[in-house]
Amino acid sequence: MAVSLTGRNLVSIADLSREEIEEIWRVSEEQKSGKVSREQMLDIARGRTLAMIFDKSSLRTRIGFEVAIGQLGGHGVYLAPGDVRIGERETVADVARVLGRTVDAISARLSSHEVIQEFAETAGVPVINAMSNLEHPCQALADLFTVKERKGELSAVEVAWVGDGYNVCHSLMLICAICGVNLKVATPVTYEPRPEIVNQAQDYAAASGASLALGNDPEQAVEGADVVYTDVWVSSGMEEQAHRRRADFAAFQVNAELLKKAKPDAIVLHCLPAHRGEEITDEVLDGPQCAAFEQAENRLHTQRALLTLMLS
Ligand code: CP
Repeated sequence: MAVSLTGRNLVSIADLSREEIEEIWRVSEEQKSGKVSREQMLDIARGRTLAMIFDKSSLRTRIGFEVAIGQLGGHGVYLAPGDVRIGERETVADVARVLGRTVDAISARLSSHEVIQEFAETAGVPVINAMSNLEHPCQALADLFTVKERKGELSAVEVAWVGDGYNVCHSLMLICAICGVNLKVATPVTYEPRPEIVNQAQDYAAASGASLALGNDPEQAVEGADVVYTDVWVSSGMEEQAHRRRADFAAFQVNAELLKKAKPDAIVLHCLPAHRGEEITDEVLDGPQCAAFEQAENRLHTQRALLTLMLS
């Protein structure tokens, strides 16, 4: 039976089965490669509206959704940080109810994962987590799509995460475990991923046959890896911890020396924005092994595929 995501929410990447994730990638490839023409795409969500409610800055996620809904024949409405003041000017549930009666789908970047969950339970139209303090499912879809494009068969790939065990790492752990991709996570002590996500990912890994290893040694994680992935040390909202974090993460920089431990044809991912000279050097980010800008472009293709399957 054909995979359909009509009317579904995407709050956690674990809301999707492996089959559904693979269908999103199939549609992403079909649209990206031009097998489905621009003209054909315009009929997919003609006349439909996507609200994008964001309480934090965004480049990739916002432009990805806004361009995607336009290319599908629909219209995007961006509600910037400060426009709505959700939970302050009016309750989360009231905002969700109003948007649900006005638009066909909502992408929400809200700091609190619980608020996005409440939004999804109340809106009555599909709600997509555009990044919360727990997860970044849209990022994860683009991450493994990029790996698949570059490396082919995902079950043969070894991914190394070097950095903070935060939202991007959480969704990566879950998608790798669901899709049977081997992952080693190296974080500084006390910056490990949340135990409930680790447990959930371990359960998925046991079912898919993926291996998931956690540790605090970046060299051990990167040794023999096909993919080396990092993220900023100081995420948005953590600015007051910046000084301590820069000290705690100092040994976790992805630089040419660390990259030598990976396979010679390893690729480097970064969800961006990058803090050049902190978690990644210019040499690596601008180097031949870096796929971060392709990964950023793939945010558009995977988010457009997601909207295609949710709205068609
Ligand atoms: N990686 C990512 O989500 O980028 P933005 O914060 O710019 O959307």
